[in-house]
Parts: sequence; C-alpha cells; structure tokens
Amino acid sequence: MSVKVTSDLWWKNAVVYCLDVEMFYDNDGDGCGDLLGLTERVDYLAGLGVSVLWLMPFYPSPNRDDGYDITDFYAVDPALGTLGDFTELVRTCRDRGIRVIADFVMNHTSIEHPWFQAARSSPDSPYRDFYVWVDERPPEKPGDLVFPDAETSNWTFDRKAGQYYQHRFYKHQPDLNLANPAVRDELAQVMGFWLQQGLAGFRVDAVPFLIEGALDDPHQILRDLRAYVNRRAGDAVLLGEVNLPAEQVREFLGDEDGDELHMVLDFIGNQAFYLALARGSAAPLADALRSYPQVPPSASLGRFVRNHDELTLDKLSEEERAEVFARFGPDESLQLYGRGLRRRLPTMFDGDERALRMAYSLAFSLPGTPVLFYGEEIGMAENLEIEGRYAVRAPMQWAADGGFTLPGVSSRRPMVSGAFGPERVNVTDQRRDAGSLLNWFERLIRRRRECPELGFGALTVLDVGAESVFAHRVDWDDATIVAVHELSGKPVTVELPVEDGEALVDLFGDRSCSLPATLQLEPYGAHWFRVARSGVRLPP
Ligand code: GLC
Repeated sequence: MSVKVTSDLWWKNAVVYCLDVEMFYDNDGDGCGDLLGLTERVDYLAGLGVSVLWLMPFYPSPNRDDGYDITDFYAVDPALGTLGDFTELVRTCRDRGIRVIADFVMNHTSIEHPWFQAARSSPDSPYRDFYVWVDERPPEKPGDLVFPDAETSNWTFDRKAGQYYQHRFYKHQPDLNLANPAVRDELAQVMGFWLQQGLAGFRVDAVPFLIEGALDDPHQILRDLRAYVNRRAGDAVLLGEVNLPAEQVREFLGDEDGDELHMVLDFIGNQAFYLALARGSAAPLADALRSYPQVPPSASLGRFVRNHDELTLDKLSEEERAEVFARFGPDESLQLYGRGLRRRLPTMFDGDERALRMAYSLAFSLPGTPVLFYGEEIGMAENLEIEGRYAVRAPMQWAADGGFTLPGVSSRRPMVSGAFGPERVNVTDQRRDAGSLLNWFERLIRRRRECPELGFGALTVLDVGAESVFAHRVDWDDATIVAVHELSGKPVTVELPVEDGEALVDLFGDRSCSLPATLQLEPYGAHWFRVARSGVRLPP
C-alpha cells in the first residue's frame, strides 16, 4: 500500500459527515443551531472518526429553500454566527484532523439577491445578463420540473423586468447565466474566497443544471473550475451532486486523469441499494455496480444511505419504484413528488437495528467515500410533522430531553417525537452503552479508515449461491477485502470463494475461516474479511 498515494488523494479514503448548522447544536439558546454550538461539538465528530465535515448552506438567505437560496455568497447567515465564528470552527476542525467542505450553490441565487434586484430593475444593469431572460415563455419539456408540487413552469414573468426568467428550481431561485463570463468569474471568486477562509473543497449543488446550455462544451466550465480550484489549493476537492444515469455521471469526472469533479454522490447505486433492500435480493445492486463505468483512478464515488433531500427513486422504473414504496413507504404522506421518500432508515425497518447496521456496513464496504448524514449514527428518524423534504432535517438528539437547545426553549423545527424521540434515541445514552448503534458506528468508521483498499481498490461482485446475499471483494495491490451482507432478514448459508493458501479474517469479530469458507449468516448478517495470504502481513 502506498501511504503517499493515500494521503495525496485523501478524499478516496475519507469519511464525510453532512450537517445543517441550524439543526445541530444551539449554543446561545435562541432555538437555532449555530457555528459556536457546532464548534463545541467538533470533539464528538472527531470521536466518531469522521474526517470531513460537509456544511449545508450557512450563507445569508431568506430561507425559503433552507438556505439553498442565497442572498450573499461572501458572508455567514447572522442567525448562525459570524465569519469569525466560522474561522474558529475551521481552525478547531483542523486541529482535530477534520477537513471542512461546504455546499456551493451557484446554479441560482435567491430572488432577493442584490444581483437579481439590480438585474430586474433595468435592461442596462450590468447584472441583467447575470440571469437568463426571454420575451416569450419557451415550451415546457416533460421532466423539467424539479419541484412539481410547487411549480408549474421553469419560467416566471417578472413584471418589473417585463421578461421571463429561468429557474430550474423554485421561482424564488432565478438561475444564474453561466454563458456570461462575468458570472463564471464570480463563481471562481466565491470559491477562491472560501478556500482562503480554510475550506478544503465544496459539495457542488445541482451540477448538471449549473453547466447546462452555458457553452458549446458545458463541461469546459468544470474543467476550468477544477484547474482554478487546484491552482489555489492543490488538494481541495469538488464533490458534485449529479443525479443522472451512470454513463452520463461518468462524464462529470472528466478524462482518464480526472480533470472535472473529484467525486460525485452516487445516486444510481443508492437507488439500486433501496430496490435490493425492498426485494431482499442482491441482484439490483449487483447489476448497478457491475455496469457502472470505470472512474478515473483519482476520482471517487460518494456512497450515502440517506441524504438531506427526499430519498429519490427517480432513476428506477415505475414498477421498481412502486416496489420500494410498497415496502418502505406505502402511505402517500411518506412519499414526495411521486419519486421519493421522506423517511430515514430506522422507521423503514421498524427500528430493526440489525438491518440498519447491515445497510451501513454494506455502504461503507463498497469502493468509494462514505457520506453520513447527521443523526444516522444514532438511528434518528424523520419527523413527518415537518414539511416535505425537511422531515429528515430535525434537530439533532443529544440527550433524553433533546439537548439541542436550552431547556424550555423551542427549536426552530420540532424534534422527533414518539418511539424514535430523544427519550429513546440520543447521543448521551448511546455513549454510555458499549453495544449501542453509536459505538458500533465508531468501530465501523475506524475500520473503514483502516482499509484504504476500499477507497482505492477494484470491485468484483461475487456469486455465493444465495439470492439474498450481496457479496463482493475489493482488491488493491496485494490486499483484498471480502464482504458479505444478508439483505432479506432470513438466515442463510453461503460458500465464500477462498483460494488455496488463503484464509479470511473477520474484521469485526473473532471469526476466521479457512478452506472451505462455509458461512452461516444470521438475518441481516454483515461481515468484512481480510484475506490472509502467506508472506503478507495484515494490519491489526
Ligand atoms: C439541490 C439540493 C436541494 C436544493 C436544490 C436547490 O438539489 O440538494 O436541497 O433544494 O439543490 O438548490
């Protein structure tokens, strides 16, 4: 294993933790989480073992899309703190070995952004051409609406401007015009600013929309950004939101050397994963992973189980989506936009922790970079009282009384209540319980970080003769990891392919197998093995 390579391409062996500052920890007791609160809890994150903190938007915003509608790209939302607080956070994280990345949302601005206000006020404004204007409303294309519950068109007439402006998302989020070089310069400047403030990179929002239609070769925008960002900060990373079919996603990683995004979030694998869980069958996931195009050696796929939006199933066929809905969210109130779910994993599995552990063990064992959404590590559920997608963005459950803010203060959004409320699901109790989900996550993350072959290696899906078992191996140099996961909740016996002179050492238990590797898997059983070969030293 080349230690040099694993630190140079650090993102391939990172564990990312995504959170919303507003919902994480309220230091000043006003009911809203803040940067100082988060800074206080950095040791919690360090203890958990995550190596990258991904901050959801923390910029000034009227908050009509939870901060994804920005009015100033160069500042911090005063409700969350100051730029000084931000510096303290980044510095504290750095001290604990954690890099900080942040959402970069420049497909659009808030309608209240001074650029848009100037743009609409006069055709002669230098900002007019920062946005996309037309005199006649263009015909709508099917599938163009991202939020069909709220919008009926991607174009809205602005009376002041006397023209229609484009918005791929809500009408209060006018799209920036990246065909305008001045806008592209701003984009770069915003990134440059935050790199200078200590960020290690960005989660780039809505990448396909960001670059669409801008140039003859829209990918040139990403090539330019990548080159610029890495000139400014050689090891800064771009993690993109690209929810497209796999072959198209591959294009966003650039040429063979990887000259566009460093990483993309793997929506295709995620959706196949839920279909596999719904069916209790490995096949959908195996098919998706087998057919995934080769990514550049320096690139990585962000593997998540749950993210901050609806759990989208938009790339499944209608029948497949119906299967997942039937298994995990049959009631319409649990679904969103006809394509996604508003739930987190614990309620989908009726609190069966074996299933949660199996799901995360599997996600972390696939080649790629694990991305964890806050609260998942304690088995937090959604709060369906919170509107739409925000159901999964409830306040973090620190203690039996909530612990998110001061006693008696109500948080901006209601905490989860009932069976998954803080009385039963919280950090404080789980820290004290060696067998808790939280302590299990800590061990999982430590193991993942000790297994760089999972970041760098090549995947082979294995056939172990049981439909409900997803088995795979990952090879890198002379290191091999074999993992098996039972998806249906039923016990099963599998035969693992082990070659002469090899033995399998269980990375979580005391089990070791040598030829023939017959393994009794418990319901939702999950195992990672290192292959021991004569003459090769294994890490502990
Ligand atoms: C992305 C974000 C989502 C946001 C949208 C508009 O899809 O994930 O939360 O609402 O972009 O910025």
